[in-house]
Amino acid sequence: MRSEVRVAPVFRTILYAQAWEDPEVDRMALRIGPGDDVFAIAASGDNALAFLLDEPRSLTALDFNLTQCCLMELKMAAIAALEHGELLELLGVRPCRRRAALYRRIRDALSAKAREYWDAHPEIIERGVIHAGRFENYFRLFRRFVLPLIHGQRIRRDLLACRTLAEQRRLYDRRWNTWRWRLLFRLFFNRTVMGRFGRDPAMFKYVEGDVAATIIRRAEHGITATPARTNWFMEYILTGNYQTAERLPPYLREENQPRLRRLLERVKLVNDEIEAFLPSVPAGSFSKYYLSDIFEYMSEQAAAALFAELVRTSRDGAILSYREMMVPRPPPAALREQLVEDAELGARCHELDRAFFYGAHRVVTVRKQPAGSAAASTRAGAAG
Ligand SMILES: C[S@@+](CC[C@H](N)C(=O)[O-])C[C@H]1O[C@@H](n2cnc3c(N)ncnc32)[C@H](O)[C@@H]1O
Repeated sequence: MRSEVRVAPVFRTILYAQAWEDPEVDRMALRIGPGDDVFAIAASGDNALAFLLDEPRSLTALDFNLTQCCLMELKMAAIAALEHGELLELLGVRPCRRRAALYRRIRDALSAKAREYWDAHPEIIERGVIHAGRFENYFRLFRRFVLPLIHGQRIRRDLLACRTLAEQRRLYDRRWNTWRWRLLFRLFFNRTVMGRFGRDPAMFKYVEGDVAATIIRRAEHGITATPARTNWFMEYILTGNYQTAERLPPYLREENQPRLRRLLERVKLVNDEIEAFLPSVPAGSFSKYYLSDIFEYMSEQAAAALFAELVRTSRDGAILSYREMMVPRPPPAALREQLVEDAELGARCHELDRAFFYGAHRVVTVRKQPAGSAAASTRAGAAG
């Protein structure tokens, strides 16, 4: 199996310097614990590192984009070697004039490939790596050129200062939801502009329907129904950084750094396509899977083949957690017996996801032993 989108040029540079998916809902879905071997799409590394906080036995983070792997490696080396303030400075959360010097302090801990990449891109280090992705750049364009035409600084500050959802709802209805908001947001977050500047047209190949109309509905949900007090996604989009300790993603919180340092050795970072990697590992290798929204970019047939590999590489009772942005990719009917969806939990994850771009969240349990089989009933008997 090969990935359909791997050749898109966009996957040769950093596309996501931060995670734009809320790791807390995946943690709720996956309930990771000490017996787990976790498989995670690496992307920026932020969410894989958040899952590490749940202390799985091992965590395999994979991405076919080498630059994403280099990014995750850099973040891991920085967590391991720098003080918390320095970590925030190097990554670009806090202002800093000594990023090159901080990079030199962690450089030797990197793999040869990551070192080569970062040595060749001092300009990204200088700017702060969390701002480096094409997707973050898209938000920068929005913040610089579009948002000022919609709303001034004051109302943005007021939104972030809301302490309750009721206050957010009131602010949205009375002040935020203007004709300019609706018009300009739709013009910027449509399929063409997003495909050209934020993602890649290849990522929309299987998308049908009005992308902009869908995204504005989701933005309304994000603004009115997820708590601004802790929403670092909202803060970054509106201000261009994380401004407060309360709105930092888990991997950057000071209280989590000592634990992460201790757990980093459990991470295995793999630069490969999931379609090629899974067939190379033994059956039953993993118990929890964080799959981002990778099914979005593949045909139904390709997704079905990947689901079959996920079943093979799963242990009985394994859990898959994944999102759909625009393209529905439920587990295939042919695997109905083995892939059991928890629609209620998926809906709750979707509702609570503070990164509000997604259409659905799916949580699926892998049943290797069909319910009622001899092995399953023996186990149930033993448990009872
Ligand atoms: C799936 S993307 C999604 C990010 C975001 N939710 C969005 O929709 O824009 C996250 C990461 O998955 C990686 N990725 C996508 N398809 C992959 C595949 N088939 N194998 C390995 N990595 C893949 C990309 O390189 C990227 O870093």
